[in-house]
Amino acid sequence: MNYSKKIESLATSMTLALSTKAKNLIQEGIPVLDLTAGEPDFDTPEYIRMAGIEAINKGLTRYTPANGTLELRTEICKKLLNFNKLEYSPNDIIVSTGAKQSLLNALMAICNPGDEVLIPTPFWVSYPEMTKIASGVPITVETSYDNDFKVTVSDLDKYLTNKSKVLIINNPSNPTGAVYSKNELMDIANWALKNKIFIISDEIYERLNFVSQHHSIASFNKQIKNITITIGGFSKSYAMTGWRLGYCAANGDLVKLMNKIQSHATSCANSIAQYAGYIALKEEQNEIEDMITQFKNRSNLVYNLINDSGTLDMIKPQGAFYGFINIKYFIGKKYNDLEIKNASDLANILLDKFQVAILPGIAFGNDNYIRISYATDEDTIRKALERLIDLSKKVN
Ligand SMILES: Cc1ncc(COP(=O)(O)O)c(C=O)c1O
Repeated sequence: MNYSKKIESLATSMTLALSTKAKNLIQEGIPVLDLTAGEPDFDTPEYIRMAGIEAINKGLTRYTPANGTLELRTEICKKLLNFNKLEYSPNDIIVSTGAKQSLLNALMAICNPGDEVLIPTPFWVSYPEMTKIASGVPITVETSYDNDFKVTVSDLDKYLTNKSKVLIINNPSNPTGAVYSKNELMDIANWALKNKIFIISDEIYERLNFVSQHHSIASFNKQIKNITITIGGFSKSYAMTGWRLGYCAANGDLVKLMNKIQSHATSCANSIAQYAGYIALKEEQNEIEDMITQFKNRSNLVYNLINDSGTLDMIKPQGAFYGFINIKYFIGKKYNDLEIKNASDLANILLDKFQVAILPGIAFGNDNYIRISYATDEDTIRKALERLIDLSKKVN
């Protein structure tokens, strides 16, 4: 008897494993300062919670169409038009159980065994493993710190083969917080068009852009739109992580394929969450912009603390709620007898000796960095970063 070799070869989500370790310590009464969270620290806004309750009481508790309710897909189309400058009809949308399911649907609909999926590094942890589930081959594309880790056409050219099938772009980025400009996206889109590469554009953090208007790759022209799958969701912008609601917009052929997968895998996204998502979009209230402003303020706090430290540095986070901190200062040094060879060693020392939980960059493909999340209160951010900086003064 043996199990699936493909699934056995997958890595478990390191981000979830470490944040679970931190949460367990907190439950044991150890006051860990936790900067691992991949979700807003705010509760789902009240008007959305009330919509969920209303959905239950109204009896919206049955299967919906596999691609989601028409009312939610219609509202998503309005949002895509107004915010993303994208014209789609409800039939071009599939509502899923989180953006995660949309991403997996997209990769499964595109990849044949052995097809290469280009994934700029540092990347969100799940892209390589999702690619493997879809029988594709993850190809991690090196990017440069000097360009805020944003992938360029010359980076991509180095990895292009006749098996290259799809490129994943995450804008704003988890883990770096970088935001692509319109011109940068346009260059990438034209490169993909020229080389007949699909684009999966993960725009889950689109509302958390502190520096500019958000640009969607698919909005540039019809041909680019035709090769692009745009991924969106409610988890980050509406503080709805546990409701599990996301969506994608794509061309009709791809939508048909993704719909087949979804109808067999999950039937449909949760009906109550779908109604709450519909109200979240239709009746958006000020709380959402208030949350975004708080994230922006915290991003400045993190950047100033780190860059004034004299030992550490980072690119300025421009979106999402993460900071990717360069820890080369620590590498090769020791804290007491403990050697710091990489970010994973640093993460262990920080958690075990200083009760600060962060994620080592290895989870995102670069172990000379750590990722901190500032989806937590300012006091926790300040204390945790002070301990990190304090540690940098104690190593030698
Ligand atoms: C870059 C990125 N894409 C997608 C997701 C998945 O979001 P959802 O909760 O909608 O599945 C996350 C969640 O952490 C993310 O960081």
